Amino acid sequence: MEKTVITAALPYANGELHLGHIKSTYLPADIYTKFLKFIGLPAIYLCANDEHGTPILLKSDDEKIAPEEYIKQWRTRHLNDLNFVLIDFDKFYATHSPEHLSLTQEIYNKLKKAGHIKRGKVKQYWDSIENTPLPDRYVIGTCPHCDALEQYGDQCEKCAKVFVGGELKNPVAKRTGNKAEVREGEHVFFKLSTFSDKLKKFVEEIEAPQDVKNFVLGWVKDGLQDWDIERDIKWGIDVPDSNGVFYVWFDAPIGYYSTLKKWCIDNNENFKDWWNGKVVHFIGKDIAYHHFLFWPAMLMGAGLNVPSSIPTRGHLTLENKKFSKSRNWYISIKDWKDNGLDPEYLRFYMTYTTPLGSRDSDFSTTEFQKTVNEELVNNFGNLLQRLLKFVERFDSKLTEKPGEVFDKVQASLTLFEELMKAGELSKALQLVSKHTHKLNVYFQGKEPWKNESEAPSVIANIASSLKLINMMLYPFLPKKTKQVAELLNVKLEWDNSPLPIGHKLKPAKILFPKVDDTVSKKLKSIYNA
Ligand code: 2FM
Ligand code: ZN
Repeated sequence: MEKTVITAALPYANGELHLGHIKSTYLPADIYTKFLKFIGLPAIYLCANDEHGTPILLKSDDEKIAPEEYIKQWRTRHLNDLNFVLIDFDKFYATHSPEHLSLTQEIYNKLKKAGHIKRGKVKQYWDSIENTPLPDRYVIGTCPHCDALEQYGDQCEKCAKVFVGGELKNPVAKRTGNKAEVREGEHVFFKLSTFSDKLKKFVEEIEAPQDVKNFVLGWVKDGLQDWDIERDIKWGIDVPDSNGVFYVWFDAPIGYYSTLKKWCIDNNENFKDWWNGKVVHFIGKDIAYHHFLFWPAMLMGAGLNVPSSIPTRGHLTLENKKFSKSRNWYISIKDWKDNGLDPEYLRFYMTYTTPLGSRDSDFSTTEFQKTVNEELVNNFGNLLQRLLKFVERFDSKLTEKPGEVFDKVQASLTLFEELMKAGELSKALQLVSKHTHKLNVYFQGKEPWKNESEAPSVIANIASSLKLINMMLYPFLPKKTKQVAELLNVKLEWDNSPLPIGHKLKPAKILFPKVDDTVSKKLKSIYNA
């Protein structure tokens, strides 16, 4: 059986995770992994903190602590936040780990030996008055491609283009406000331009949303530039044969590789079996350039296996406006937790409303309340509750085998499995919802409380169907489905068989409370709406 390594983009160790991170990356990767494991496939979910780069240095400076200390706080914080949303990693590691430091240098040395590294002149920003270099986030200016204001020196947040040094219009030192001037220096470069043809083929063939592939192919067509992978700061991994450290985006994706190495050592597994199996990177569209171009080219150059799939998703808006921490238009995972809100309702809503591909989606309190109440509480929770209550009249026992109604739900498992394996998680969840709706219509239409003779067959159909619906819901709602399985008196496992005659259900219990107005008030107070 092919092994699958699932990764989620490594979070920077300098800021809290919010709902946007969850919906595009950590949650879909978790649901996908839970599903593969559930149906018995060998799969592991890896992630790590992304601990280098100038923003971390800036923030640790602000807090007057060493960067080593600063990043440690975020390791615990990120892991706690992600665990709260019931996201389980097989390994959550760190890019400032000893394994990562040596593997990054090893991959660089391989690239160099194969002729993919060169020295080249760089245009670098300097603070004209303080006379210090200003890498990436130390400088802001106007994007030369789309004229977006206040962009950092490395990439435009609006048009997502990655800059060659010195391209910004009207650059200014962020900390001092002094004019930034461009001076020449020398750095090591990765010869990305020589990979154009191979990358074009790679992007055409990889399993990824077509709309994302189209814009990446556009970048390849526009021409790829050799990539400056060195920075003149004192925080990062030393470039073995130069003065600076590696640019954070050179070492970060190696974090996938080094975390797998660490997991294999800890678990006595064969690294090659896993890396040469299926590698799936879950990302948000803003980092497509790095995952579709830089990273595969690095792997190709070092003679290593490239990823098989890059499920990419769009941004999240809040009530149709961009998230903004400074304007408090923002919901973090901690906010969700501190307000006692249900993490599984969040998992449900986020998945239900987030398509695969670059299209953005929105978080709205009204929609959250409506979707969870309609599609989960009333549709699934209520049907379960009604069934368990009704069956009490019959000593909670099933006295018949199910028929056609159940057969249809059972047949839907094939499509469900296909959608899940293709990473079409919102479509898979909507399919489950559709079948649950049909069950409600059937139950309501048959009125078994009036037609006692029909009751045994209706009960059998609904009970066995709910067993399958609950099993399909497991990756989305890992805790609640366990509780439902207890009420249905079944094991929570991937098993499509109906419940046998004589099976006894447990007494009804409310597992899906309604999202009422107190909840929506709490939510709105988080973002001051
Ligand atoms: O954009 C980000 O948040 C980066 N820290 C993602 C890194 S992903 C990987 F390549 F390491
Ligand atoms: Zn731009």
